[in-house]
Amino acid sequence: MSSDVTQKIKDKLDIVDFLKQYLELKPAGKNFKALCPFHKEKSPSFMISPERQSWHCFGSCGEGGDIIKFLMKYENLEFYDALKILAEKAGVELKDFANRDFKSFNALYVLMAEAKDFFRDNLFKSRQALDYLKERGLAEETVREFELGLAPDGSDVLTRHLLKKGYKIEDIEKAGLTVKTERGTYWDRFRSRLMFPIYNHIGKVAAFTGRLLPWNDNPNFGKYVNSPETPIFQKSKVLYGFHKTKNNIREAKSAVVVEGQMDFLMIWQDGVKNAVATSGTALTAEHLAVLRRSADELILSFDADEAGQAAAERAIDLTGANDFSVKLLVIEDPKLKDPADVVKSGPGKIGELVEKSKSAMDYLFYKYISAGGGSSSGGKNVFNDQKLKKNNIRIVLSKIKNLSSGIDRSHWLKELANILGIDEKFLIEEMDAIKIEFIKRSSVSAEGEIKEEISSHRDLIIQRLFGIFLYKNDLKTLNEYTKYFPERYVEIYKSIENEENAPDNIKDLINTINLRFSFENQNLDDDKLNKELRMLERELKMEFFKDKQRELIKLRNMAEKNGDEEKVKKHLDEFAVVSKELYNVQNPS
Ligand code: CTP
Ligand code: MN
Repeated sequence: MSSDVTQKIKDKLDIVDFLKQYLELKPAGKNFKALCPFHKEKSPSFMISPERQSWHCFGSCGEGGDIIKFLMKYENLEFYDALKILAEKAGVELKDFANRDFKSFNALYVLMAEAKDFFRDNLFKSRQALDYLKERGLAEETVREFELGLAPDGSDVLTRHLLKKGYKIEDIEKAGLTVKTERGTYWDRFRSRLMFPIYNHIGKVAAFTGRLLPWNDNPNFGKYVNSPETPIFQKSKVLYGFHKTKNNIREAKSAVVVEGQMDFLMIWQDGVKNAVATSGTALTAEHLAVLRRSADELILSFDADEAGQAAAERAIDLTGANDFSVKLLVIEDPKLKDPADVVKSGPGKIGELVEKSKSAMDYLFYKYISAGGGSSSGGKNVFNDQKLKKNNIRIVLSKIKNLSSGIDRSHWLKELANILGIDEKFLIEEMDAIKIEFIKRSSVSAEGEIKEEISSHRDLIIQRLFGIFLYKNDLKTLNEYTKYFPERYVEIYKSIENEENAPDNIKDLINTINLRFSFENQNLDDDKLNKELRMLERELKMEFFKDKQRELIKLRNMAEKNGDEEKVKKHLDEFAVVSKELYNVQNPS
């Protein structure tokens, strides 16, 4: 039944027409090609087949699917949401759609909207809460636009309200709005809190964050309470505010990333309209995947305290490796703690800081080189201490090495050479000597056509495996994994096996792996290790089969170019076999 409607929707829409709205399509024989929106690339490896009404990325993501899967991935939507948008476009009614998941998803959204309305109406009944918002500097217009609310004081006011409206207690619980107690009664999760609806990227309420009100301050209550993960809410994926700001971000090619809802609302209100908030989680790779499609530049803002600074550095590593140009919004006034404070201190101030934001690498240069700071130096001036100086230079070099853009890497190397008055040559040598984390990416296909990046994920898996088996001193077992290794790791394995004859750089590598591993894993028991091994094995196999798929597609394309029909068919058959194996690894029985 459900697949009927899905098919009906797909029949009415043409994938090529639809993708045109998102991508610049170029004809390629019977097909079309485009730059893949899901990873950074210079030559197109994203193919669209009108015949099969499907797409496939033959570059580093290696993924593909139909029009629904595209929309889900592109807009970061759940299946039902993507389907609904497409149904509207196709003019197909979704009413008879009898999929259970669909129903439960929809029920959850309806519930969340109902709760949101309830909280909002409740807020406008509370003079005290409205005064608090005013005192924080929020205009009523902003409060209304983002539908802030107030969870009432009382144990189950919302639960009862929703039950009375006819909602099922299981659904209310599933939505994370009520919590079952040991005695079997139900309690509202949010009580007497300022409520921020968390919207998904198409503007539906998927979760809430509740902030403590100052007059309820009690050391036993956390400042923030969040919805749990539910079928419609994954914390690591959602960017607060993105549903309102995505077009502005796309236009500016730049996104300002702040930590809290309050920060977001305040800077939005003060005219910074290309922002998002991560709301309490660190910036994740999933967040970056969403932003990558609209922005080239990220302006990150972190609290000035030590935790904020550490978070800033982690984010710089992650964003740099994902090929964003990264800037930092620095709040210099020590009296102002976060962007919300800055806005409150005067209109237009935050915009000035955004304008003035400096490249993250400048920040790192300052921290490790000029100021001689950094956690390892204890604030001493590096230039008085050769060892620290060397150490800090290596840290900065490792950050440079981590950048995925070659242009950026050479720019910052020059810069560093200038500042230090050291010949670039020596810095490059030093940088090359920094091992392990950086054995990744950069390979160009034989045709020089598709620039394929070696999955850094696979590198990390393999390096971890090396770490574990070196730690267990059990290289024999590691051998069982090598059939899933790319050639260069097999080489490394072989030279480690007879360590005496290993070249110096391999010895270096072993040392680094060993050092890092024993540093990070001081109390690993066998149970934990075995569990991790099973996970690594699965992921390694997945990467292996995906790689095989890519290889076969390349061969197929080559055969097609040469007009070798037989080979085309052979490679496609092999592709099907590999896909099946991949499926089996992904879905163990
Ligand atoms: N946060 C959270 N859970 C916590 C603490 C924080 O989810 N226990 C999230 C919230 O989204 C919060 C953000 O992390 O907005 C930043 O936390 P913090 O700086 O402590 O709060 P502020 O945003 O500054 O809140 P306020 O200005 O209202 O004090
Ligand atoms: Mn704040």
